[in-house]
Amino acid sequence: EPFRASGVVMAEPSGPVISRYIFGQFSEHLGRGIYEGIWVGPDSRIPNVRGIRSDVVGALKAIHVPVVRWPGGCFADEYNWRDGIGPRSKRPARKNNWWAGSPETNAFGTHEYFDFVEQIGADAYVSMNVGASTPTEMRQWVEYMTSEAEDTLAQERRRNGRDKPWPVKFIGIGNEYWGCGGKMTPQQYARDFMRFTAFYHPQPGQAATRVAVGAKNGLTGWTDAVMAEALENMDALSVHYYTSPTGNVDVTKPATGFDAQDWADTFVQTLKMDEYVSAHSRVMDAHDPQKRVALFIDEWGTWYTVEPGTDPGHLYQQNSLRDALVAAVNFDIFIRHADRVRMANIAQTVNVLQSLILTRGPQMVLTPTYYAYQMYVPFQEATALPLRLAAPDIKVGTTWMPSLSGVAARATNGDYLVALSNLSPHDAVEMRLDLRDLHVQAISAQILTADDMDAHNDFGRSDTVKPHTFDEARLENGYLVVMQPAKSLIVLTLK
Ligand code: AHR
Repeated sequence: EPFRASGVVMAEPSGPVISRYIFGQFSEHLGRGIYEGIWVGPDSRIPNVRGIRSDVVGALKAIHVPVVRWPGGCFADEYNWRDGIGPRSKRPARKNNWWAGSPETNAFGTHEYFDFVEQIGADAYVSMNVGASTPTEMRQWVEYMTSEAEDTLAQERRRNGRDKPWPVKFIGIGNEYWGCGGKMTPQQYARDFMRFTAFYHPQPGQAATRVAVGAKNGLTGWTDAVMAEALENMDALSVHYYTSPTGNVDVTKPATGFDAQDWADTFVQTLKMDEYVSAHSRVMDAHDPQKRVALFIDEWGTWYTVEPGTDPGHLYQQNSLRDALVAAVNFDIFIRHADRVRMANIAQTVNVLQSLILTRGPQMVLTPTYYAYQMYVPFQEATALPLRLAAPDIKVGTTWMPSLSGVAARATNGDYLVALSNLSPHDAVEMRLDLRDLHVQAISAQILTADDMDAHNDFGRSDTVKPHTFDEARLENGYLVVMQPAKSLIVLTLK
């Protein structure tokens, strides 16, 4: 049975600009995320440029990835940057203590990371080792990356093949200090943050955005304490929130082969992002009413049971239509909070958790989540517009959940954009959207949907879920009228 919904998009008052960085990425040394997923080495038979696989670069360039956070995650707090520079044959072999004790060859280090972000056209977000390191080591790494002078570290960088300094746009001062970063209190973290940032010396005019470790989920006590004690040196504060259908990432459920109840539970859990962002924003408003400090959701995504036969410490999971809609719902939340949320980094780009890309040897698969990113590209740097939706809650399994999510914006080229997700796994929605304020002449649309809730792309079957042109939306006296299929995302371009 189709259900009905309505809405109105207003041209005024326009909201904030939607930072392109909310479509950012996170890539850690974890499982096959970097090694195999991004780095195959210059001698690989997999086509590559200086060791970085060309298929992955091509796919990431196509969706205008704005930023990649690296090298962790938990891994960042054990990373010695010196291990990853100089001739690769001489780099030390280490064990990745956080992630299954896997061998860490250090073949992918600072130079390879910057080569990668330059190849895909993204900005750098480097996470410093704070938990297990010193301000001196941080200062030296920063100097190695950014110094323009003739000093020893800059000369070492030049000897290692890079003459010009790299722009480090974002610098993370630690990771999950309440957890794998050292199990500290927010007061302890605030002191360490102030101490480390005191020894951060950017080149003139090149100051990075200094990102403080923020809370897990909705724990606003951390935000409050860190804002109270470290506001002065902070440009952004992070939050990490992962979606598990059980509400707990330690109790996982499969990425495919799930039922409608799991579908509903996943959306109920992922929608908590809105609650958490609102709560953290309120606390930040109290300390920083001018909204100088940004909120970065620099780890988010779905966390399911690993694929059978894979190492539980490698966090390799499939990715279905459900994940694409989870991504869309989260984009919508970030866009609705664009005044404060100015970056978000999905965990993680390739082969780890909610990936955009899966690889197996020379093969590459683009996931439904990849296509959600692709469909939202026009929202990068667009101006948010008010969209009021009136849609019923629906009962799925034993759970009540919202049926729709959506946002509107004006793109940088002047087009109006509307994204709508029908979250019902069973029913279409008969949608009537009042666009009279926009004076629209023409509509074009793309849809992402499939027959099964867990439809996914796999090796040898790589285009089960991908966007298609959708020509069933029509204009009637300034209203958009559309029958939107169950479990679908549509993005409309209105001229
Ligand atoms: O993304 C996987 C891990 O999740 C990260 O390393 C850590 O920061 C978080 O707990």
